[in-house]
Amino acid sequence: MGKYDELFARIKEKAKHVDEKIFELIPKKEPAILYDAARHYPLAGGKRVRPFVVLTATEAVGGEWEKAIYPAVAVELIHNYSLVHDDIMDMDETRRGRPTVHKLWGINMAILAGDLLFSKAFEAISRADISPEKKAKILETIVKASNELCEGQAMDLEFENRDTVTIDEYMRMISGKTGALFDASAKVGGIVGTENEEYIAALSTWGRNVGIAFQIWDDVLDLIADEEKLGKPVGSDIRKGKKTLIVAHFFENADEEAKKRFLKIFGKYAGDVKGQGIIEEDVKAEVREAIDLLKDYGSIDYAARIAREMIERANKALEILPESPARKDLELLAKFIVEREY
Ligand code: IPE
Ligand code: IPE
Ligand code: MG
Ligand code: MG
Ligand code: MG
Repeated sequence: MGKYDELFARIKEKAKHVDEKIFELIPKKEPAILYDAARHYPLAGGKRVRPFVVLTATEAVGGEWEKAIYPAVAVELIHNYSLVHDDIMDMDETRRGRPTVHKLWGINMAILAGDLLFSKAFEAISRADISPEKKAKILETIVKASNELCEGQAMDLEFENRDTVTIDEYMRMISGKTGALFDASAKVGGIVGTENEEYIAALSTWGRNVGIAFQIWDDVLDLIADEEKLGKPVGSDIRKGKKTLIVAHFFENADEEAKKRFLKIFGKYAGDVKGQGIIEEDVKAEVREAIDLLKDYGSIDYAARIAREMIERANKALEILPESPARKDLELLAKFIVEREY
């Protein structure tokens, strides 16, 4: 048995409760084109780590996880909305092992499906069985995270048109696009379960660091994962010219000749290249060459090391919480995040 098997079983068990509510909120109904598109990613699966963080954070501060189901649903819906819109922006054609929403229903319907998922997140919060004071705090936390997510995504897009970004700029960008929602997930779980502000702050710090490490690892997987396992395209960030920590390290360390070779490929092949009269196999070979250059300069290993350090820092923040199986699960989940292959 693998060391994460029991954790996975608990994630799956909690996801069942979350999914039940998700599909109550987005049932099969008319207009079918809209609801089918909105249900597409939730139906395709996903790791469901964010709702697990919400529910387990509630338990880790002594609360009942059942009380946190609707907030957990809200976080997963916001995440899914962001994926639908992200895939349009990144022009990606697969997600969770299936064609992306915009591939199947077109860009306009994908924008709407994302909007619906976003709106349903707030419907979920409104249904939560908690005090009005806690509900207001949760709403504030989720709104703040959604704002930050948009800011981070805007920076991500803006960076595509730049030659380089600093490590500091990259960190701020991923703190927004991914760190904020992990932070909110842990914090919201804390709000449901306790009045202890120190515990809530510790969960928030843990979530932020875990989220940042999660994105660094996602950027690593974009280069080295098995596409089948990952369920989304490998090398997409190279094609699109995404400025990741890996790329920032490479530009700081590579010689001029290597940089020149890399720049010939980097950012040159967004979207469906067949429509541009380019042969897909040729692009694949070039992307592999770019990835090899990143490997040659130790840039992928560097990013992986930073991600693991952030996880250690995150788990340190949890030490003020009383020891419990739930706290252990959060620590274990954080470790899994920087070892995962998908
Ligand atoms: C993908 O998130 C988007 C990022 C923030 C990198 P996940 O890797 O959690 O996606 P799913 O939910 O498991 O599909
Ligand atoms: C996107 O980061 C994060 C959000 C969806 C907010 P990526 O663009 O790297 O996510 P993937 O790799 O497509 O899942
Ligand atoms: Mg993307
Ligand atoms: Mg993106
Ligand atoms: Mg990615």
